[in-house]
Amino acid sequence: MRYADKDRRRAETLRQKIGRRSIVMVGLMGCGKSAIGRRLATRLDLPFVDADDEIEQAAGKTISDIFLEHGEAYFREGERKVISRLLEGEAKVLATGGGAFMNEQTREKIAETGISVWLKADLPVLMRRVARRTHRPLLAKGDPEETMRKLMEERHPVYEQADITIKSCDIPHEVVVDDIVKRLLKTIS
Ligand code: S3P
Repeated sequence: MRYADKDRRRAETLRQKIGRRSIVMVGLMGCGKSAIGRRLATRLDLPFVDADDEIEQAAGKTISDIFLEHGEAYFREGERKVISRLLEGEAKVLATGGGAFMNEQTREKIAETGISVWLKADLPVLMRRVARRTHRPLLAKGDPEETMRKLMEERHPVYEQADITIKSCDIPHEVVVDDIVKRLLKTIS
């Protein structure tokens, strides 16, 4: 069997196993949830949705402006509602913002309706990736590396509850996608 055929077969088997559930990407800012989630969706021929984009659309403003004008608690409530709505719909690959999985109700909802994938990356990898962008309010003040270190301490024990953990380092996205597909095939019943 040619390699591409094998990939297609695997994708088809996985899609059947997933059924109506969604694959939910979780992990810290810069771990690649959107970039890898988008490629995973293409591989599985599923829609891709970015929760942060949906939150911005629902609010009619950027996440930075939501934080600035209404504060983090307001953002978190909007985030919870938007993700809950997105999980009600058809099967998809859903990239969530880094803080979303910290909400207990969101974790429960994901456990009921989806399969969670934690993209785990080391601090230097995360810092290299977030340095290229300036749109993240949590990293906009203070020392971003210190902030990220604290977030790792707080969040890693919670991200660990995801159904699968995948190492996200500086390897091609398609290789990470292969890894996710193989692990999901083994994990999902
Ligand atoms: C956040 C991560 C961001 C965004 C918001 C808060 C967080 O999403 O939701 O700035 O709490 O880690 P990304 O993880 O996609 O950058």
